[in-house]
Amino acid sequence: MTRPRVYVTRRIPQEGLDMIAQVADIEVWPEELPPPYALLLEKARDADGLLTLLTDRIDASLMDAAPKLRVVSNCAVGFDNIDIAEATKRGIMVGNTSEVLTETTADFAFALLMAAARHVTEADAFTRKGKWKTWGSQLFLGQDIHHATLGIIGLGRIGAEMAKRAKGFNMRVLYYDTHRRTDEEEKELGVEYADLKTLLCNCDFVSLHTPLLPQTHHMIGAAEFALMKSTAVLVNTSRGPVVDEKSLYKALKSRRIFAAGIDVTETEPISPDDPLLTLDNIVITPHIASASINTRRNMAIITAQNLIAGLRGEVPSNCVNPEALRSKNE
Ligand code: GLV
Repeated sequence: MTRPRVYVTRRIPQEGLDMIAQVADIEVWPEELPPPYALLLEKARDADGLLTLLTDRIDASLMDAAPKLRVVSNCAVGFDNIDIAEATKRGIMVGNTSEVLTETTADFAFALLMAAARHVTEADAFTRKGKWKTWGSQLFLGQDIHHATLGIIGLGRIGAEMAKRAKGFNMRVLYYDTHRRTDEEEKELGVEYADLKTLLCNCDFVSLHTPLLPQTHHMIGAAEFALMKSTAVLVNTSRGPVVDEKSLYKALKSRRIFAAGIDVTETEPISPDDPLLTLDNIVITPHIASASINTRRNMAIITAQNLIAGLRGEVPSNCVNPEALRSKNE
């Protein structure tokens, strides 16, 4: 029996690659940068499965060029790089890595919140440059985190973990989501529902945990910054385009808000000439919120499991479009 063919668009932790190699012929793109789209299209032509990262565009044209394709397993929880409707139409199952990265990502969102509130990276740079002359009562004054109010936009798995962390700091937590939790869930998480405007006006910290959808594109822009407290800190570990970056720049530069901590940018990687990088009140990291050794290993394993299930014609355990199997069988 011929083995299925799988194209893997980047090196992922070896455990995942070994699992796939047991059941399929596997080719791995060896470079650090993503394979160019034209090459991916070429490789997809005779692939039964693709293992992708969030930087790989998997659209209708690519799927048209891949008549054998049964499964795309994305090594990420987000899947805005994949046209899910087109995949479903063609009976191609799409897997993601929900759950394994939830707490690691929330840890990092909280780290950004604290770093931006308390000038951590700025003070580190200051110390390294030899600028620390004496203890100063006005040196790097930041915002208190304990007993402050956190606003969570998007109370999914990661947002809920953020709420739990906030409780340890005696914070009040408001949340906004298109889906309101039940009274019991709200009670259990210790969160209060608020509409977006109320949340923005009342929170000391605003943390974004929404997927990127047409409805969430530039959800935070000039009008929203105008509502926020001048002492507020914005945290974004979701997707860059959820925030209108030009407005973010203006809000930070004019001190309309106090600071921001962002792990994602509208264009990734951010250009070295981007004006955001000239500001002292923003912490910017290169999309690493899920990057702990354990979590990245677990993500590789789940991605491999999803891929293998899809190759076998089964619904992967983390499948974003289980209805694809139905459309394939019709
Ligand atoms: C990272 O942003 C992910 O979607 O896993």
